Amino acid sequence: MPTKAALAHIPGPPASPLVGHTITIARDSYGTQQEYIRRYGSVYKTNMLGVWRVNLCGADAMERVLLDRENLFSSEGGWDALKRIYPGGVLMQDGDHHRANRRILQAAFRASAIRDYRLRMTDAMAELLASWPVNEPFDFYAAIKDLTLRLGGAVFMGLPLDGPLAKRVNQAIQDEIRASVTLIRWPVPFTPMWRGVRGRDFLRETFRALIPERRANGGDDFFSQMCLARDEDGRGWTEDEILDQFNLLIMAAHDTTATALTVMIEALAAHPDWQERLIDEVAALGDAALDEDALGQMTQTNNVFREALRLVPPVPFIPRQTTRDFHWKGYDIPTGTSISLNPGVTMLSPEHFSNPTEFDPDRFTPERAEDKSHKFAWTPFGGGAHKCIGMHFSTLQVKLFVATLLRKYRVELAGEAPDWQRMPIPKPKGGLQVVLKRP
Ligand code: HEM
Repeated sequence: MPTKAALAHIPGPPASPLVGHTITIARDSYGTQQEYIRRYGSVYKTNMLGVWRVNLCGADAMERVLLDRENLFSSEGGWDALKRIYPGGVLMQDGDHHRANRRILQAAFRASAIRDYRLRMTDAMAELLASWPVNEPFDFYAAIKDLTLRLGGAVFMGLPLDGPLAKRVNQAIQDEIRASVTLIRWPVPFTPMWRGVRGRDFLRETFRALIPERRANGGDDFFSQMCLARDEDGRGWTEDEILDQFNLLIMAAHDTTATALTVMIEALAAHPDWQERLIDEVAALGDAALDEDALGQMTQTNNVFREALRLVPPVPFIPRQTTRDFHWKGYDIPTGTSISLNPGVTMLSPEHFSNPTEFDPDRFTPERAEDKSHKFAWTPFGGGAHKCIGMHFSTLQVKLFVATLLRKYRVELAGEAPDWQRMPIPKPKGGLQVVLKRP
């Protein structure tokens, strides 16, 4: 890792001893970043938790780094902090090794598998939503996290929605996710990292025991698909590989979709005209279970989803590490430098989006197509070799949720719209209080 001296030629704000810029950035990560870009331009350095990082801002940087044809940028090095909890997942792999494993993982995302997940999800979602309160305020963020976690038990693991095992598994997943964003990175007893490591060990043991049965009998959940997954040459995974890849998958799928749905519901409650548009769109599909065709017609819902991801992207920064010296916008960036891409701030840039802080899903219509102003203007799912493999699945899940909800209820805010924490994981401070009403 290069020292501060090796990065002396790169501009940046003065850093406080020990904490560097950690507190300033944690307090207001977007505002701080926008200010630094104004002061120093699109390349500047910051120090987070003792690590110097070069920020490469804007859509051009994202295109250059994510479409990395020369293996100049390591995702493994960038996501180093996640490795204690999620070693061996595709996100933590580079080059040929990554390509080979991504090809196998792709088998769990083929069209027929996605159809099975949709069928599994449709009934489970209706059942879970039926247990939500009506005519009384509740925290939507907590409720959707619980719903996606329990739905995940069914769709990802083939477990019942409730029961002691599903509960322990869900707790272990939450402990892992919490550990992946904690500041204390050693498993000191009773810290979040310690709980996360124990959660990981519990999940590995539990799922290792299921592998022989799933390999023999299959199943229409992600875990069974991953036990059977093969690339075109017939190569599959060992038990340890299945466990590592599956563990990363459930982490990558969980908070991201729950956050996006929370932003969407807040926006629909705050913009009744948009809620009406989606109600009409859903009503036009009739009452039958929604198939691929029907979901494909939910274009306005899709635009609201895309707008929610633009305003509050669940992954607002993408880290990488340089594997060789690299020259960008007039600066030499040495081997081993931690770099940070900023899709979050780029998607709020007036360079690409008109009135960028406003909720305006029509900006994605073919007539306006603001997201096409640059290949990397709208990038909540990243791009290049590591582009989110769950993008279509999460879109499917979001559309099914919106249709299931709006067929039965109208949603209103109960109280003030919350402030959003942006880092380390975006979430509404104090939750999102809403009321569901029958039409
Ligand atoms: C709104 C929902 C989601 C968002 C915004 C999102 C965002 C992202 C982003 C930005 C990346 C790229 C990270 C990088 O390049 O360093 C990524 C990768 C990934 N995502 Fe998602 N994700 C979402 C949902 C999902 C779901 C539902 C799944 C699984 C079913 C999933 C599985 C993955 C996996 C396995 C990777 C790593 C791919 C690779 O390294 O080849 N994601 N996601």
